[in-house]
Amino acid sequence: MNIVIANKKGGVGKSTLATNLAVEYSNRLGSTILIDIDVSNTSLKFMQRRADLELDSKNLRVALPKSIDDLDDLLSSDIAEYKIVDVGGYSDDLAIAAILGSDLLIVPISDSPQDKDTTLEFIDTIKTAQKDGFLKDCIFVLNNVNPLAKFETLAKEVDYVRENGFDLCGPIGTYKIFSFAHGGGQSVCEINHLSKASSAIAKLISVIAERTNG
Ligand SMILES: Nc1ncnc2c1ncn2[C@@H]1O[C@H](COP(=O)(O)OP(=O)(O)OP(=O)(O)O)[C@@H](O)[C@H]1O
Ligand SMILES: [Mg+2]
Repeated sequence: MNIVIANKKGGVGKSTLATNLAVEYSNRLGSTILIDIDVSNTSLKFMQRRADLELDSKNLRVALPKSIDDLDDLLSSDIAEYKIVDVGGYSDDLAIAAILGSDLLIVPISDSPQDKDTTLEFIDTIKTAQKDGFLKDCIFVLNNVNPLAKFETLAKEVDYVRENGFDLCGPIGTYKIFSFAHGGGQSVCEINHLSKASSAIAKLISVIAERTNG
């Protein structure tokens, strides 16, 4: 299964969701590869921190495709049961190649009005893939939002998502444990599986399972 996490807007939580999902899929479900299309090699550094701390990663690998052909090869291979793509370091060509190879596209967004224009540009990219019949499924995830706010209140701030015909899920609140986890090469569930952040990740994993039939 190819789960692709993308948004043209930077800093919305693509790498945060990608690393947490990759660790959880590998710990709970089966062989997983974290595919990182980012020149800053966020995932590689994350995996190095796991290795330094001798955390169990026998089911988890990382790949850094440098071209669209490399990415296509990975997405069409059976190198792992779960392939999680972090479309960081945004490039239209790589993002389109990732969208076309996805079983589910996950688009993290914040509720900030400042993000709207860039996210709308990305929605145009998604709609082109959709129009050509290449997009299997797509869901937007509210991330890094006030944990006390109600979902419907937050959803109104990003009404353009539903107006464009996309489903919205979450919310994933702003929790410090996400940055501790990233800095330590861990998922939030590995640090504290009873945390609210862990529940939010578990909920996202069940939404993904529902949409992809497992
Ligand atoms: N739910 C959250 N709670 C707290 N902090 C968060 C949350 N989601 C993301 N962050 C923080 O926001 C910052 C940006 O997140 P992240 O690096 O995952 O975004 P990104 O979309 O991958 O960015 P880029 O476009 O630069 O690759 C990081 O410091 C991360 O720890
Ligand atoms: Mg990133």
